[in-house]
Amino acid sequence: MTTRMLTGGAAVLALMPAIAAAQCDDGERVVNFSHVTAANGHPKGEMAAALAERVNEAMDGTLCMEVFPNSTLFDDDKVLEAMMLGDVQLAAPDVGKFDAYSQALQVFNLPFLFASTEAVQRFTEGEAGQDLLMAMEDSGIIGLAYVYNGLRQFSAGQPLIEPTDAEGLKFRVTTSDVTEAMIDELGAQPQALAFSEVYGALQTGVVDGQENTWSNIYTQKFYEVQDGITETNHQFLTYLMVTSQDFLDSLDEGTREEFLSLVDEVSDEYNARANEINAEARQAIIDAGGTVRELDDAQRQAWVDAMTPVWDQFEEAIGSDVIEAAQAANEG
Ligand code: SIN
Repeated sequence: MTTRMLTGGAAVLALMPAIAAAQCDDGERVVNFSHVTAANGHPKGEMAAALAERVNEAMDGTLCMEVFPNSTLFDDDKVLEAMMLGDVQLAAPDVGKFDAYSQALQVFNLPFLFASTEAVQRFTEGEAGQDLLMAMEDSGIIGLAYVYNGLRQFSAGQPLIEPTDAEGLKFRVTTSDVTEAMIDELGAQPQALAFSEVYGALQTGVVDGQENTWSNIYTQKFYEVQDGITETNHQFLTYLMVTSQDFLDSLDEGTREEFLSLVDEVSDEYNARANEINAEARQAIIDAGGTVRELDDAQRQAWVDAMTPVWDQFEEAIGSDVIEAAQAANEG
């Protein structure tokens, strides 16, 4: 397998039919990993690249893995369909993108539920988190590993200090009912848009603001077209690395086990780096002239009070047992 970086959607699409033949040796199974974020300076982007390197080295002659970052192959709303058709074997969308398949996974999007990466780790490694890996089994989608990003922050074209500052604004959101309801609670308007469209939408005023992690805000340069970023730390962006049952079934047992063990090894390694990557991105935004606004305890509490009413709306759909397990994970 020859490693090659591909950039630019048009170039990739033009090359697509030839990818497997050009990249992989005879007899190697192709593993295409499609995702939407930057390849560098990003927990998911770096994890995906490292996984490809590890798979191609350890499983040379058996598997041939290629990563397509930056939505160059599919947006997250198309990738699951592509996976079912066998065009993509791996993806790691944020859990919001699984809304149509599993409401229980939306536990990660409940605002102010998880206080830290450590709490998310306790939850994902516990029984409830492990059960959720299989939440979409009936649809033929298998969760292989959680991939952590970090806590989301709000930004807008005007300063956001009190939640009332968000009233009447339009915020880009990912496709999650929980997140849409959370924005409604602020008296603001949610607008679901693909990740690749956010910069342009902020720049042209299609939306006034957005909410995302430091690594996404920095690598997508959202700070360039926003007044500032308010450190609300309101929601933990978690990805679920998924494959199809069909792909797993098509591998012989030895190949499957070796592949799954590399997935575990590399995702653990990069999950341990997620905090550091986000802290570096936060600093890089400041260094690049972006404005970061910290909240005092009373201001932050006002955001908590404004958005947590959505918990009640989704308790039945997510499951109170799942929410309780997540809350317990905060306690260590
Ligand atoms: C991602 O980090 O994969 C995208 C998140 C988003 O759509 O907000």
